[in-house]
Amino acid sequence: MAVVTVVGGQWGDEGKGKIVDILAEKANMVIRFSGGDNAGHTIINPQGKFSLHLVPSGIFYPQVTGIISNGVVINPAVLLEEIDNLESHGVDTSHLLVSDRAHLIMPYHTLMDSLEEQRRGEGSIGTTKRGIGPAFADKVSRTGIRIGDLRNKDVLLSRLRPALEFKNAILTKIYEVPPLSLEKIYQEYCRYGERLSPYIIETLPIINSAVKRGDFIILEGAQGALLDTDFGTYPYVTSSSPLSGAVTAGTGLSPREATEIIGVFKAYVTRVGSGPMPTELKDEIGELIREKAHEYGTTTGRPRRCGWFDAVAGRLSTQLNGLTSIALTHIDIYDGFPSIKICTSYKLNGDIIDYFPSDISLLEKCQPIYEELPGWQEPISKAVNFTQLPAQAHRLIARLEELLSCSINFVSVGPNRTQLIKVNSPLP
Ligand code: GDP
Ligand code: IMO
Ligand code: MG
Repeated sequence: MAVVTVVGGQWGDEGKGKIVDILAEKANMVIRFSGGDNAGHTIINPQGKFSLHLVPSGIFYPQVTGIISNGVVINPAVLLEEIDNLESHGVDTSHLLVSDRAHLIMPYHTLMDSLEEQRRGEGSIGTTKRGIGPAFADKVSRTGIRIGDLRNKDVLLSRLRPALEFKNAILTKIYEVPPLSLEKIYQEYCRYGERLSPYIIETLPIINSAVKRGDFIILEGAQGALLDTDFGTYPYVTSSSPLSGAVTAGTGLSPREATEIIGVFKAYVTRVGSGPMPTELKDEIGELIREKAHEYGTTTGRPRRCGWFDAVAGRLSTQLNGLTSIALTHIDIYDGFPSIKICTSYKLNGDIIDYFPSDISLLEKCQPIYEELPGWQEPISKAVNFTQLPAQAHRLIARLEELLSCSINFVSVGPNRTQLIKVNSPLP
């Protein structure tokens, strides 16, 4: 059938969890392939309201094999808490699998993430302090510990001892904080290993068999394109690639397999943490969007910065991801707005530009150039098909399709499962 990738088109929190939860109804497998518990995917369905940080959003359907693949970094304490919470709400997690190749977030990663943010002071990135950057750094520098290492206590100790020796030297000599205890971490991680061992497996053959059978597989992205380490607003980015191209390295799936790539975009933009955001609204409209949409971080509770839709950034994201369609969320937030703005280009040093500069010192100087469209006054959250949306919403959608050169096949009008309008979607 289909291999569908769902990725964030902006700075994260676009509503990926909601879209995956809906699409997964007919899926056989949902795979989280990048990031870690910096992600917070909100799902509201008949079983309750959940904030998933690691477990794939398809977990609510018993026929879905949920996989946390090798591209994800895993804090085992967070994963166990999430599993326990799901189970306590009657959600069966026995169909969850975790790639033995996925790297672990260790206590020194979370600690160093916080210490490093403190050290950056004014220039802090505004990370989620979940240890994501330090864990990916260790993976790449070959000092990481993989979750599969938890299955053998001797292997765990042989990896942990030298890693911690080095981290403790940094903690005591650079950051001047007390060292961490080898014994304590070792015992703690042995316990995690015992509890998690039923889930840990080599997932590659399982994914490949699903592909061979022609199963419907959903690849669930985390974060958003503008947080990509290479193409985002570096250094105000995350430490793994949130792009569709990361699927290959993050799961082992061949790049030829993905048949549909859906980019999730809000009808406006939000960002948590620091870094340039050309259309940010530091006025009462930004405040109105934040309060109406309750734009506070799922993972950290921080207020999200809000702004008008940025089609310059959106074009970059569409192209980088090779999107085949878009899911546009949160258009209900515009109910009652007299007019809606879309940024179509930037003014930079007197010139009009239509690209997203790679150099953030230039991006910071970009002034958005807006196009203004009429708003609608009636509530749209109960619309169940496209024709029920007001003409002004049709016009907004059509203009965004034109600006991004990509069709909007899903329109979300609220946080619930029922609030999704499918428009000419090729998916089942
Ligand atoms: P994710 O990280 O991309 O999965 O997104 P988050 O869960 O962090 O943030 C999206 C928020 O918007 C959640 O609180 C969702 O329940 C909510 N949401 C999703 N789609 C819509 C929508 O169309 N309208 C409104 N009003 N809320 C939505
Ligand atoms: P989901 O999957 C929004 C942001 C952080 C910070 C930057 C780096 O829910 O869309 P990190 O902890 O990754 O080193 O922080 O990235 N960030 C997110 N923002 N949604 C997310 O995930 C994010 N994951 C990381 O706020 O600015
Ligand atoms: Mg989120």
